[in-house]
Amino acid sequence: MLNPDPASATLHPRKEVIMKILVVGGGGREHTLVWKVAQSPKVKTIYCAPGNAGIAEHAECIPIKADEIKKLASFAHSRAIDLTLVGPELPLTLGIVEEFKRYGLRIFGPDKDAAIIEGSKLFAKDLMKKHNIPTADYATFDSPPEAMSYLRKRGTPAVIKADGLAAGKGVVPVQSLDEAEKVIDSMLTQKIFGKAGNQIVIEDFLTGEEASFIVFTDGHTILPMPSSQDHKPIYDNDQGPNTGGMGAYSPAPVITTALQKKIMDEVMTPVVRGMAGEGRRFKGILYAGLMINGEDIKVLEFNARFGDPETQPILMRMKTDLVPVFEAIVDEQLDRISIQWDERPAVCVVMASKGYPGSYQKGTAIEGLKEIQSTVNVEVFHAGTALQDNRVVTNGGRVLGVTALGDTIAEAIDNAYSAASHIHWDGAYYRKDIGKKALNRNK
Ligand code: AMP
Ligand code: GLY
Repeated sequence: MLNPDPASATLHPRKEVIMKILVVGGGGREHTLVWKVAQSPKVKTIYCAPGNAGIAEHAECIPIKADEIKKLASFAHSRAIDLTLVGPELPLTLGIVEEFKRYGLRIFGPDKDAAIIEGSKLFAKDLMKKHNIPTADYATFDSPPEAMSYLRKRGTPAVIKADGLAAGKGVVPVQSLDEAEKVIDSMLTQKIFGKAGNQIVIEDFLTGEEASFIVFTDGHTILPMPSSQDHKPIYDNDQGPNTGGMGAYSPAPVITTALQKKIMDEVMTPVVRGMAGEGRRFKGILYAGLMINGEDIKVLEFNARFGDPETQPILMRMKTDLVPVFEAIVDEQLDRISIQWDERPAVCVVMASKGYPGSYQKGTAIEGLKEIQSTVNVEVFHAGTALQDNRVVTNGGRVLGVTALGDTIAEAIDNAYSAASHIHWDGAYYRKDIGKKALNRNK
């Protein structure tokens, strides 16, 4: 027998250097996960289903959609995947974790009973009420006349939300009763969101500044990531319709140290304990979308996964290997982990296809990617891209997330925009004010 090299054996025990990872999803968040996991000394092979052109540089892309959970489990079984990471919410709410467990496969993410915190707004609101977690006052309905009579009493503005997942379109602020009637009719009677609109939540319209607070949890221990902020509307100064997110930065100065403690004490801890108490132990990434108004915080939503595009700047700042964190969560040993973060802020500018969030063209060639590939402190995460005749082409509404670190938020913004200015395609669009709110607060 050959003498094992004691130094390398200690650093990377053989059992661990051969990990095969499967990442489920194919957007900017998943490219960031793949990029981060590819840096782990524990990982040998990465597969991503379905992936995209950027992901294909680090991983073998497998043409299975993220919601085809049976096919994914069977693929993972056939390749003896050591750990699967789930990016989007849909497979989680469909029960991908249970499906993988049936094969004895290790998978990172909450099971269906816990992912319901994102899958059902009624569930999330009732959980918050039960545990005194600050959120907008609300009522739930399945009958249009009752919903309208409630609204007539309480007035507008209000926010109407379909209970289930609606591809980011199920939340509608309304300014008048006429508007409300149309929205209620479309959800409850016309069923534009199918079963996801069998019930609706009507809640108070909140004002303030939004921010995202995302934690790792194994259902016992909670490790916060640095705060972040998304930019949902399509145009500068938060004008126009909402999108999946046009950019993000981390940290978000609107979340002060005092507010962070408040969020941990008044939101994250009661949710994680409350879920465990109901037999719905939450193991994975718990994301709170918050409305912040001075010292007042209110939860707008919970997500059972990483944010997109918040993951891009957050993981650019993570110094620690992510794979042991995922493993510790699967094994419910997160108390053994500590995570180091880069002090420097990071900013992600999303480059989108003209027309998004409405209809847009696909298949346009993207120029300039190679030129900035080696720029230090800059990563271009692909969201909607594909390879066509060896060229990277647009393949979605959100196309790229140009992400940069900087010594200050101003420098991170400059670095991200300077990189974005080298990338071109016919019809490329991006907001010019990503990070402005952080700059204003730092003044
Ligand atoms: P949600 O999916 O529930 O986070 O809602 C999507 C977006 O709708 C949020 O990011 C907010 O911009 C907006 N929103 C949701 N709930 C409210 C509310 N109660 N008041 C004002 N805006 C809201
Ligand atoms: N950035 C918003 C989300 O991931 O839901």
